[in-house]
Amino acid sequence: MFYDAIANTHGLEFDPFKALVVPRPIGWISTLGKNGVVNLAPYSFFNAVGTDPHYVMFSSGGRKDSQRNAEETGEFVCSLATYDLRDAMNRTSQHVGPEVDEMELAGLTPAPSKLVAPPRVKESPVAFECRYWRTINLPGHDGEPGTHSIILGKVVGVHIDDAAITDGKVDVTKLKPIARLGYGDYAVIDEVFTLTRP
Ligand SMILES: Cc1cc2nc3c(=O)[nH]c(=O)nc-3n(C[C@H](O)[C@H](O)[C@H](O)COP(=O)(O)O)c2cc1C
Repeated sequence: MFYDAIANTHGLEFDPFKALVVPRPIGWISTLGKNGVVNLAPYSFFNAVGTDPHYVMFSSGGRKDSQRNAEETGEFVCSLATYDLRDAMNRTSQHVGPEVDEMELAGLTPAPSKLVAPPRVKESPVAFECRYWRTINLPGHDGEPGTHSIILGKVVGVHIDDAAITDGKVDVTKLKPIARLGYGDYAVIDEVFTLTRP
């Protein structure tokens, strides 16, 4: 099948777009509100976008708390969402007011970051400490302002659980990261294959 993506005439019960851009890594973004309360939420429009220096991005549909806090405080942390933490991750996607500590809400432990103020998720084996760089507001249809914004941050510190390092390499099968698919579906990375570049 082919469909016009502007008119979005896919004819299916659900928009297939997010089921086609898969698997999407989940940035589990912690920030601090101006009130000092810890905010934590998963973002699957998330990725690494540079290595020298290291940059990451997440995209917010509407100006949610994570975007606002990152912009206002200039800092955010991305923890890795893993299979063991899947239910806690899901709990942190609840829509709650800025006065609610979402780490506490999900039964998670805040671990102090080294270079930025927002804490990382202690239970997660990997975290990136980030300094906010800028926001790109994506245009909507016909020049109207769009609803999505891309928030970019420079990674200034990386935490890795030493237990996940084998022979000098990160063993992803020990981390068991989860990834977002379409609909309510997820994947877990617990198996890898290797290709040698020609
Ligand atoms: C796995 C998962 C991925 C999500 N990805 C996004 C995303 O990429 N962008 C977005 O705006 N919301 C996304 N959401 C919804 C947000 O997590 C949710 O709106 C949350 O309440 C936002 O919290 P905040 O206002 O504290 O930032 C996702 C939810 C889940 C469960």
